[in-house]
Amino acid sequence: MYLYLHLHFASKYRNNKLNRKIMELKGKTILITGGSAGIGLEAAKQFITEGAKVIITGRDQKKLDLAKKMHPSITTIKSDASSQEAAVALYNQINEMGGIDILYNNAGIMNGQDNLGFSNSKHFEKAAIEINTNYLGVILLNDLFLDMLKSRKEAVIINTSSILSYTPSNLVPTYSASKAAVRFYTEALRDHLQIIGSRIKIFELLPPLVKTNMSEGMEGKSITPDVLIDALIKGLKNNTYTIRVGDTKAIYLLNRFLPKLAYKLLNHKGVTARLQS
Ligand SMILES: NC(=O)c1ccc[n+]([C@@H]2O[C@H](COP(=O)([O-])OP(=O)(O)OC[C@H]3O[C@@H](n4cnc5c(N)ncnc54)[C@H](OP(=O)(O)O)[C@@H]3O)[C@@H](O)[C@H]2O)c1
Repeated sequence: MYLYLHLHFASKYRNNKLNRKIMELKGKTILITGGSAGIGLEAAKQFITEGAKVIITGRDQKKLDLAKKMHPSITTIKSDASSQEAAVALYNQINEMGGIDILYNNAGIMNGQDNLGFSNSKHFEKAAIEINTNYLGVILLNDLFLDMLKSRKEAVIINTSSILSYTPSNLVPTYSASKAAVRFYTEALRDHLQIIGSRIKIFELLPPLVKTNMSEGMEGKSITPDVLIDALIKGLKNNTYTIRVGDTKAIYLLNRFLPKLAYKLLNHKGVTARLQS
């Protein structure tokens, strides 16, 4: 108990000492990984409206070309967030272009939706892709860009976790675990940077279910990407470092006080039925 209180208040004290200056987005350069569709594409649109220069990545050149057609001021770079080689090449290219002020780790992938009780070599394969893209890829890119960001007057890292980082969905267990890992890593990175006196601000975006290609076929109340990105931009401007949007707030509270109920809500009879076949 004493250890818990000590850690809780030490972390609160450090968070209070965080840089509270309001971030000006106009004139900043932002890299959005996975910016060619869904939430990332909406973010590109809204950051352009805010006066930022936007660079997006993705694996599919056609999707990148389409995004460029929609928003001609965007710079597009084909790059796979799960690859170490691609991350180094991306860093070098952006460094030559003059660097960035904001790194928005948005690229993500969700596999799964089959029953783990039936042996299948694909389970390992799919899980490895999710962990590499959603978690290890974030650490990789942050590490590459840390020194560049430290040298900027104002710098931000945004990591994307999920409502499922609090309570997992049985339909996507490794995806849920990858997002819980992003959450723990983000909290540690924020604290570690505070300890060494760095001014980089570390934000965590926790979306609920959002209407995109990723959530196609998933049941439940969802919001649209514009609502989520509105909340992200407000959060950046208000220095709200943990941005819980929509149902994420409810699940966060429920998971703290009634975790079994939170679990039941996300793993209802419909979920069980899908895992029976
Ligand atoms: N939608 C939701 O309900 C929801 C809820 C909570 C959290 N999130 C998180 O929000 C983020 C965005 O999700 P979304 O719903 O917008 O997904 P989406 O509609 O599937 O779009 C994903 C974007 O990321 C790119 N991408 C995927 N894998 C990549 C990789 N390895 N390297 C580079 N780019 C990659 C895709 O382009 P390519 O396919 O061309 O690479 C696409 O541009 C993800 O981190 C996701 O986990 C989403």
